[in-house]
Amino acid sequence: MLTKALSSVLVVITLAGCSPSGASDQVDPAGSGTAGAAGIGDPDFPADGNGGYDVSHYALTLGYDPQSRHLAGTATIDATATQNLSSFNLDLHAFTVSSVTVGGHPAAFTRSGDEMTVTAGLAGGTPFQTVVTYQGEPKPVRDSPNLGTYGFVPTKDGSFVTAEPNGAKTWFPANDHPADKATYDFRLTVPDGVTAIANGELAGQPTSAGGKTTFVWRETHPMTTYLATMTTGNFLVKTGDSEGGIPIYAAVDPRYQSQLNRLYEVSGRITDYWVSVFGPYPFKSTGGVVDDFPSGYALENQTKPIYGGFEPDEGIISHELAHQWFGDSVSISRWKDLWLNEGFATYAEWLWSEHQGQGTAQQIFDRHYLNANDPMWNYPPGAAQKGDLFNNSVYTRGAMALHALRKRVGDDTFFKLIRQWASDHRYGNATTEQFIALAEKTSGQKLGDLFNPWLFEKGRPQTAT
Ligand code: TRP
Ligand code: ZN
Repeated sequence: MLTKALSSVLVVITLAGCSPSGASDQVDPAGSGTAGAAGIGDPDFPADGNGGYDVSHYALTLGYDPQSRHLAGTATIDATATQNLSSFNLDLHAFTVSSVTVGGHPAAFTRSGDEMTVTAGLAGGTPFQTVVTYQGEPKPVRDSPNLGTYGFVPTKDGSFVTAEPNGAKTWFPANDHPADKATYDFRLTVPDGVTAIANGELAGQPTSAGGKTTFVWRETHPMTTYLATMTTGNFLVKTGDSEGGIPIYAAVDPRYQSQLNRLYEVSGRITDYWVSVFGPYPFKSTGGVVDDFPSGYALENQTKPIYGGFEPDEGIISHELAHQWFGDSVSISRWKDLWLNEGFATYAEWLWSEHQGQGTAQQIFDRHYLNANDPMWNYPPGAAQKGDLFNNSVYTRGAMALHALRKRVGDDTFFKLIRQWASDHRYGNATTEQFIALAEKTSGQKLGDLFNPWLFEKGRPQTAT
C-alpha cells in the first residue's frame, strides 16, 4: 500500500486487454516497460524503498538457528505494478539468494549493495507475486554514531529484531520504506524450546516436528517494514485480555522473569487508557517483549513494543504504546516528518504522567522551556535531518509544539483533533502539512504563527504559557 504523497508522481498505465491470448497477464506485451526506480522517492534516503510497484502482503517462511546464526527461507511478496516495468528492485542486505520467481516463472536478478534488481516485464496496474528464496547469516546495519546498530541482531539465545529506520532488509527482501505498508504472515521455525515472536496474533498453537517448532503469526493490519519483527530466544510468556477487552501478549527473557506480570498488567492498563484519549485501538492485540540485550533501547514494533536490556518503566511503556496510534497505525511517508511519531509519543508520556497525578504536561513543558541553552533550540523538529534523525528535538521539542498547540486551541479542540488525526489516517500515511491543515480546520484558526516557530525555525519560540 503506497502513500498518496509519493504515489501521486507515478503515472499508472493499465494495459489490460492488450495481452495476446495465452500470455501471462503479468507480462508487458509491448515491452514498453522501464526499470523501476531504486528508491521510493524520499529525498533524505534516496536508496530506501523502490519505485514502480506497491506491496500489499509479505508472507515470510523463515527458519533461524541461534547456534549457527543461519537464517533460511522464502519471502512471498504480493505487489501491484504502478508503471510498465522492465525490472524492479527489492532492498536486501547480505544473504545468498538462490532463486527468484515472478508470477511463478524463474526471473533473472542481479545484486549491487543493498539493491536487488529483478528482471520482469510487467504492465502497470497488474498484481504480481514474487518469491525470493534466500539464506545466510543476517548482518545488522551498523551506522554509528548516527543510527547505531539495528535490524536483525543475533543474541546469545536468538535474535533481537528492531529495524527503524531501514533495517527490514537485514532479514527479508522488502520495499523498505514506511511509505509502502503491507500486511504480513510469518511462519517462523526455530529449535524446540526457543520462542519465535512476531507482530499480530498467533494463528493456532505452535507445532513441533524433528526437533523444531514452528510459530505462525499474522499481522492483518497494514504495517511499515521497520515495525516487523522476528524476535527469538528463551521467553516466559503471559497472555490474556486487558480490562477493556484487548488481547495481551507479554514475553520476557528469563533474566527479567520478575518483570513479566508488571509488563503484562501495565501494558494492558496503558493501552486501555490510550483508547480513552486517542480513540479505538487500531490493532487486534497489544503487549510487549523484554529481551536480554546489551544496549538498552526500545522500539514500537506493531502490536508488541520490544524493550532491550532494561526494565521498562511506565513512561517508556506509555511512549511505545502511544506509537501504536502515532507511527504504527498513522505512519509517516517520508523521514523528515518523524516528529509526527516521536513528538506525539513523547507528549503521550507527559499525558501519562499528568494522568498519574505526577508532573503535569505544563510542568514538564516549563522545565524544558526554561533550559534556554538546550541544543534542541537550534534544531527545528518539523524537518528531521537524515544525519541526526532521532535528535532530541524531534522528541522533546516536537512534544512541546503539541503542548503549545493544546494551550492555544484549548483541551476540547486539541483532543478532538488528536482523535480525528488517528481516525482520518488510520492504517495509512500522513504528512506534517496534513496535520497542520487538520489543526487549522478543527480549531477554525490560522496557526502558522504557532507551527512555524515551533516546527520549522531555529531558536526558542516565544511562548505565552
Ligand atoms: N523509535 C524508537 C523510539 O523512540 C527509537 C529508535 C529508533 C529505535 N531507531 C531504533 C529503537 C532502532 C530500536 C532500534 O521508541
Ligand atoms: Zn518513540
